Amino acid sequence: MNILCINGPNLNVLGKRDKRYYGNKTLAQIDALLNAEAKRLGVNIISFQSNSESEIIDFIQKNSSGAAGVIINPGALTHYGLSLRDALVDSALPVVEVHLSNIYSREDWRAKSVIAPISMGQISGFGWRGYMAALQILAGELKADK
Ligand code: DQA
Repeated sequence: MNILCINGPNLNVLGKRDKRYYGNKTLAQIDALLNAEAKRLGVNIISFQSNSESEIIDFIQKNSSGAAGVIINPGALTHYGLSLRDALVDSALPVVEVHLSNIYSREDWRAKSVIAPISMGQISGFGWRGYMAALQILAGELKADK
C-alpha cells in the first residue's frame, strides 16, 4: 500500500528555518523516520517536496491512482492553495494535513487552512512527530482498524 507524503514550499530547508516553530530536524531526517515507521506498519511511503504548487499538482495527478492516501504539509499553500486543494479533491484520496507548528497560535493569516475542509483531519503543533501520527492514523484507517 502506497502513501504519498508531500511537503510544500520551504520545507526543503527544514533544519535551517526558525527552530522555535519547526524544530531541528531536516526533511531528510523526518523522511527517514517516516520510512522506518512505514516499514513497521507494512506500508510504503512515496515522498515528494517542491517549492512550486504546479509541480505538487503534477505529482498528485501522476501518482494518485497508485496510492491509498496522502499525508501533506502544504507549507504556506495551506492558506491560499486552491489549485492544490482541487487536485487533492480530484485524487479522491483520504488526506491528512500536517503542520510542524501550531498554526492557530501564530499570525492570524496562518489560522485559515483551505486544505482542512477537504481533509480527514489535521495535526498541527507537534513538530516532526505529527508526521508519524499522521502515518499511524492513515495506515490504521486504511486497514479498517477503526
Ligand atoms: C507550516 C506552517 C505554515 O504556515 C508555513 O507557511 C510553513 C510550515 C508548518 O509546518 O508549521 O511553511 O506548514
